[in-house]
Amino acid sequence: GPSLKESFKGDFFIGTALNTAQIEEKIPGAAALVPQQFNAVTPENIMKAEVMHPEWSRYNFEMSDKLVAYAKKHNIVVNAHTLIWHSQLPQFVRRIKDADSVRLFFTDHINTIAGRYDGQVYSWDVVNEALNEDGTMRKSIFLDKLGDDFVVEAFRLAQKAAPKTKLYYNDYNIEQPKKRAGAIALIKKIQAAGVRIDGVGIQGHWHINHLPLKDIEESILEFSALGIDVMFTELDLSVLPNPRDIVGADVNQRAAYEAKLNPYTTGLPDSVQTQLAKSYEDVFRLFLKHKDKISRVTLWGVDDGQSWLNGFPVRGRTNYPLLFDKEFKPKSAFYKVIALK
Ligand code: XIL
Repeated sequence: GPSLKESFKGDFFIGTALNTAQIEEKIPGAAALVPQQFNAVTPENIMKAEVMHPEWSRYNFEMSDKLVAYAKKHNIVVNAHTLIWHSQLPQFVRRIKDADSVRLFFTDHINTIAGRYDGQVYSWDVVNEALNEDGTMRKSIFLDKLGDDFVVEAFRLAQKAAPKTKLYYNDYNIEQPKKRAGAIALIKKIQAAGVRIDGVGIQGHWHINHLPLKDIEESILEFSALGIDVMFTELDLSVLPNPRDIVGADVNQRAAYEAKLNPYTTGLPDSVQTQLAKSYEDVFRLFLKHKDKISRVTLWGVDDGQSWLNGFPVRGRTNYPLLFDKEFKPKSAFYKVIALK
């Protein structure tokens, strides 16, 4: 059958996010599908600091080495994710109180990990999610102890440790005007310091009812005007309501509330399936329009069954945000996307 990677060959990389079981090829459906459909992979969790750097002087390269070997075997590039992020940090970092120790962690972490995989991974998300919605710097242990310049410093260290690796800034909602302005200022600051940044990743965790096509298009143009690659790095389209949009969270109506929160446990109604397909078609049409400016589109997961959106922002839901269903079958969204070519 048709494949995403063949369809978009010459346009942009088409990627997916993998966890341990898929990297170890323990899920037959995923083991067959990933090399057939995708030519880029992002580790969904296994290259985050809490996994790779569990204690002060102990690194854990077990899964990341397996990922690199897996990718090499299947002729897929690795987009490593992520060096510096406020979340999924190891316990020992959360306990640090003084700036010198944060700096020691920061420097050693980047040098060791970026250095080890230079020439083995295609790119790094050097810094992830450093901004607030209003475009100001987000509160974190790095901002708190190292100050505003921690982003520039992270890229400076990464450029030295990983001269052969592309270096990216990655964040969500940076297609939104205020946050986008913050990201542009941040990228310009890195460039003004004479430090290398090769691209920006717009995560792309969107919703079928609010697909910000105009903001996405403006972002592609404005980010690429900075002379860097633009990527969509964690694309998924939720079909479920945001909990804050559900009114009537009455304790006496618990069952009704839960049903509203998780309405499609037995399958996706045709009307929503169609809307999802249309949303994917619209966003991929826009990507194709600007394919000269877009270097990669990565879906945040292989199939609906393992999507993080089944557990976020509330646990235990059944979401349908990807192009393959939980049986690894292509959905109508897949066929709509393929048909654009
Ligand atoms: C998510 C993973 O998908 C989950 O499995 C994990 O529990 C939490 O992190 N932005 C990012 C990603 O940059 O690293 C996040 O991944 C999703 C939001």
